[in-house]
Amino acid sequence: MARYGPWAVVTGASSGIGAEFARQLAARGLSLVLVARRRDRLEELGAELFARHGTDVRIVTCDLSDARGPWHLLDEVADVDVGLLINNAGVGLKGRLVDLEPEILRRLVEVNCQAPLALSHGFGRRLVARRRGGMVIVASTGGFQGLPWSAAYGASKGFDLLLGEALAVELAADGIDVLTLAPGGTDTEGPMNSGVDPARVPVRLMSVGPVVRAALDSLGRRTLVIPGAGNRAAAWAVRLVPRAFAARAAGRLMRRVIS
Ligand SMILES: NC(=O)c1ccc[n+]([C@@H]2O[C@H](COP(=O)([O-])OP(=O)(O)OC[C@H]3O[C@@H](n4cnc5c(N)ncnc54)[C@H](OP(=O)(O)O)[C@@H]3O)[C@@H](O)[C@H]2O)c1
Repeated sequence: MARYGPWAVVTGASSGIGAEFARQLAARGLSLVLVARRRDRLEELGAELFARHGTDVRIVTCDLSDARGPWHLLDEVADVDVGLLINNAGVGLKGRLVDLEPEILRRLVEVNCQAPLALSHGFGRRLVARRRGGMVIVASTGGFQGLPWSAAYGASKGFDLLLGEALAVELAADGIDVLTLAPGGTDTEGPMNSGVDPARVPVRLMSVGPVVRAALDSLGRRTLVIPGAGNRAAAWAVRLVPRAFAARAAGRLMRRVIS
């Protein structure tokens, strides 16, 4: 609260990892701006957090696949003292790139790349001006190598990974802590909505609690966190083999898990 309060903005707070960020930040005493498209889910979560912790909540419904989405959000919270930005909203996809509709790819790049970029820029300026605060950028272990059959998603998460790592260096002197969170498979609606069949995943998906706890415990202490020993080992293994080999191995795994 002292370092990253009084308000945190959480994008993609209506489900999964984002909703868990909201719950754990509320438990630590922060006030919350909850952002997503599904207002009913955000209102339900806001009511839960108020009942449990007395949390001040502001809800901003916003479509981050619309180029104006990030600017709408920045305008809506112009009067709020934001100390922490959680760039979490994201979408996945499955299938061979050439078989997908261009509009699906455009929306993915807007939500997964353009929105975190615009929000890191807009909120980054505000954080630098107050010389205190933090940012979390949610990437993925899928961004450590080419990800066949989810090529655009893997590439978008590689973008998030490199953006976060670079901003951590750029903003350190201004007192802003930037953390990149790279989860592996996590038990949320996300993988299912992207066509992953949980029955075919060879490892146990992590639950959201430890993923978010690892991020909040790492903020200000390190710049990249990969929750789960197996995910960390896999991420390190990728660095030890030729990149083409890593992409082929990732492709075999993707073929197996998508329905
Ligand atoms: N689950 C995993 O295995 C996994 C692994 C690695 C990384 N991640 C990353 O973790 C982050 C959260 O994913 P999750 O697994 O928690 O998935 P999720 O449960 O599907 O949550 C995605 C969130 O993003 C929001 N969102 C999606 N499209 C949006 C749009 N156009 N405008 C505004 N908000 C939008 C959704 O809200 P609305 O639908 O209400 O708009 C939802 O709150 C993503 O960045 C994902 O890439 C997940």
